[in-house]
Amino acid sequence: MLNLLLITASARRERSLSRDLAARFMSGVEKTGLRVQIVERDLAATPPPLLSESHIVTFFTPDAQRSDDQRALLGPSDMFIDELAGADLIVIATPMYNYGMPASLKAWVDQVVRIGRTFSFDLARGDYPLEPMLAGKTLVVLTASGEFGFAAGGQNAEKDHLVPHLHTLAPYLGAKTVYHVGVEYQEFGDRRFEASLAAAQYEATALGQRLARAPCVRSR
Ligand SMILES: Cc1cc2nc3c(=O)[nH]c(=O)nc-3n(C[C@H](O)[C@H](O)[C@H](O)COP(=O)(O)O)c2cc1C
Repeated sequence: MLNLLLITASARRERSLSRDLAARFMSGVEKTGLRVQIVERDLAATPPPLLSESHIVTFFTPDAQRSDDQRALLGPSDMFIDELAGADLIVIATPMYNYGMPASLKAWVDQVVRIGRTFSFDLARGDYPLEPMLAGKTLVVLTASGEFGFAAGGQNAEKDHLVPHLHTLAPYLGAKTVYHVGVEYQEFGDRRFEASLAAAQYEATALGQRLARAPCVRSR
């Protein structure tokens, strides 16, 4: 059975292109007829808490020494990490906002990338003391942007702080392999947009079909 975690983050419910790509991806998965367990987390509908000083103190307090209040504070973080840990395939469908990820998605990352749960820290490792603790997952990133040319070599490549950021974070989510499908040109609404949308929709469906069948994704 495939365990899939679907993260959505667009503030738009209607006409959201990243949500549309997520739906296409899921239809590709469904087409395989394989058994899939899906956990969906809509970060725009229910934004994760922003990190507070109490969160940071609690993260760095050994579990045996945590107070009841601190344990309660960890509730959302524990839930998000459990959902992540149980997934073979992580699908993050997100808009580009101000050249990066929406605040709700960053808040989720800040609750999930946590010492002792998703990474360990040891100065004995020298200049690279952080080590991811999760492994064996595949990450799919589905994006929508108003402008264009964000891919490597494109005219706005150096402005993309969304996809490269998610690539950097992937090991901390337990993913070595990252796939990206994006629709661009939304703000132009012209033929380039139509072509970009059609290509991304096709790719998202095909990728869903392919990854649902991929043995490395269905290893559990
Ligand atoms: C608050 C906000 C910020 C945005 N910032 C950017 C941006 O920096 N670069 C860009 O190309 N498009 C930007 N856009 C356009 C969105 O990326 C585009 O509308 C995309 O389709 C949104 O995803 P969605 O359709 O899933 O809601 C922005 C849109 C909003 C609402």
